[in-house]
Amino acid sequence: MPTAKRQTQKPGGTAATGTERTKVLLTGAKIQKRIREMGLSIRKDFPDEPLLLVGVLKGAVLFLADLARQIPGEVTFDFIAVSSYGKDSKSSGQVKLNKDLDSSIDGKTVIVVEDILDTGLTLRYLLSVLQQRKPKNLRVAVLLDKVERRLTDVTADYIGFPIPNEFVVGYGLDYAERYRNLPDVRILSLPGGSH
Ligand code: IMP
Ligand code: MG
Repeated sequence: MPTAKRQTQKPGGTAATGTERTKVLLTGAKIQKRIREMGLSIRKDFPDEPLLLVGVLKGAVLFLADLARQIPGEVTFDFIAVSSYGKDSKSSGQVKLNKDLDSSIDGKTVIVVEDILDTGLTLRYLLSVLQQRKPKNLRVAVLLDKVERRLTDVTADYIGFPIPNEFVVGYGLDYAERYRNLPDVRILSLPGGSH
């Protein structure tokens, strides 16, 4: 059975696991500063409303936890899990609901909280499912936006950082379930350069 190699931290912000290499794109401090602004801007748009944050598992967990603490007033959480399927899951846009919300969103002000907007196909699916359930308002907050990769015209209402077309990990985002625990967002390069 393969064992995960220990992650090593090198000077200059480079971390390596085996032959995978990562390089800091956004520091934890920069992320936290931006999330403070996002939290206030969400509350400014809905000054008197209870807000339901809907986190998309698992990538958005860290972002949701930090964002929630920066939104003053009444805030509740729920979670949903989806996965892509189909032969070419990246471009088919076929999305499966793996875990549904615990409660109804009828009449509620809902903020979908996602880690990253890439092709936009996942979010397009999620928004169509949630919209049918008659929320009072439906908005989207994403930490990262890979603008160049968009295959559909879906947009987020609150965007942490537009980023270049690179595969990123950390702060909730994974590569084969690893790296989610990193406090910063890093660009991952694999041997052979597939990412
Ligand atoms: P979309 O449907 O292509 O927008 O896919 C969005 C989902 O793909 C995100 O919620 C992530 O789970 C995953 N994803 C897209 N880009 C990256 C990346 O650079 N690193 C890690 N996960 C990513
Ligand atoms: Mg995700």
